[in-house]
Amino acid sequence: MSFDSLAPVYALLERVAAGGGMQRCRTAFLEVIPPPRLVLMLGEGHGRFLRACRERFPSAEITCVDASAGMLRQARQELARGRLDESGIHFVKADVFTWEPQSGAYDLIVTHFFLDCFRPDELALLVPRIARAAAPGASWLLADFQMAAHGWRRLRSRCILALMHVFFRLATGLSARSLTPPEPFLEKAGFCEHRRVEMNWGLMKSLWWRRQEPAAAGPAAAADPPR
Ligand SMILES: C[S@@+](CC[C@H](N)C(=O)[O-])C[C@H]1O[C@@H](n2cnc3c(N)ncnc32)[C@H](O)[C@@H]1O
Repeated sequence: MSFDSLAPVYALLERVAAGGGMQRCRTAFLEVIPPPRLVLMLGEGHGRFLRACRERFPSAEITCVDASAGMLRQARQELARGRLDESGIHFVKADVFTWEPQSGAYDLIVTHFFLDCFRPDELALLVPRIARAAAPGASWLLADFQMAAHGWRRLRSRCILALMHVFFRLATGLSARSLTPPEPFLEKAGFCEHRRVEMNWGLMKSLWWRRQEPAAAGPAAAADPPR
């Protein structure tokens, strides 16, 4: 899969197809998450979330990983358009299936419109790899497309998603044939859903997951119950 050929027009395509909807989805929880120190963005693409995150948390150190050189270029240009400098931002051109993030380091992980590119067998490999990079108490923000729950909304999302899959398969070589909900994989990797919002008649969702902490084993928990 390569997004290089789409990179120069990806932002325009997004505006034409969804207006500001995808960006609202990406930034739904940006104002309310705890300020992060180290941020890991995977498949960040054109950098619209990167720019918003940099504006919101100017002192956070951000690692931005994408397999597409063209997308990384777009992300840097997006920062420049916002008159933001790149200090403290690391751009990494790499495949997330082979790139090794620093273990237990990041207190914010971001995978917007990224996990929906992958098949279930790929998510089963990828999500635990990403989860290992999370610090205790880390937040994981992910916006994704989804199948709406009922009625005409479900029919609408089924048609849009089928068209999108055909388009992205032809344009990028996307291997996923359908949408796989990422939630069970995050849960299995030790995260729990903290907040969720749905948009665009249920076609998009924005999720805030947090890493579950092991139950506190304080003196009360450790002591034997009185007999
Ligand atoms: C659908 S775009 C999403 C871009 C952006 N995050 C957004 O919110 O619109 C998927 C992005 O993931 C990147 N990507 C796809 N597979 C990848 C992989 N195996 N490793 C790293 N990046 C990958 C693509 O280059 C592209 O920039």
